[in-house]
Amino acid sequence: MTSFQRIRVKGLLLTLSGLLLTACTEPEPVLQTDNPASARWYSDAQVTIGAAVFAEHCAVCHGSSAEGTVSDWRQRLDDGAFPPPPLNGSAHAWHHSNAVLLQVIENGGAAFGGKMPAFAEVLDHTEKLAVIAYFQNYWSDEIYAQWMQMGGPD
Ligand code: HEC
Repeated sequence: MTSFQRIRVKGLLLTLSGLLLTACTEPEPVLQTDNPASARWYSDAQVTIGAAVFAEHCAVCHGSSAEGTVSDWRQRLDDGAFPPPPLNGSAHAWHHSNAVLLQVIENGGAAFGGKMPAFAEVLDHTEKLAVIAYFQNYWSDEIYAQWMQMGGPD
């Protein structure tokens, strides 16, 4: 073996032991899943903050688990307005980027004849992002992966 080869082998062993060490000392990932595409943009802490925001400001219309409060969210109400849709991945909130979701939360539905109130002055930016994290946490990995394919957060 030339000295050059010896150095390479030694380097490889060092790399391998480094990897093993990393594997043993890294903290467990928050989301356990086989599908890397479903690793989420938000933290557990954001979901916790979002849960409180949602319970106080959104659950009355969108349901306490974002499941909606009407049997068919596609069915217009008697006055022609749309009811609050579920946000748990069963309606179409997952067709929107976080930027669009933020806009809906900030401005409400007035711009398009809707009934959702505006939260621009009610919630701060951290709370708005956290509340998105809260209802997205109900999205299945499949829905989340489709959302990511459509562009995800941006
Ligand atoms: C007074 C009832 C009401 C409250 C309170 C309310 N919403 Fe809504 N929301 C609606 C309605 C109704 C719609 C459908 C659009 C419209 O008519 O304005 C809607 C639509 C939405 C959408 C768009 C969903 C989609 O599929 O495109 C999002 C996101 C949303 N709401 C989030 C929230 C969040 C987050 C809160 C709390 C901060 C909240 N809403 C509070 C009634 C409400």
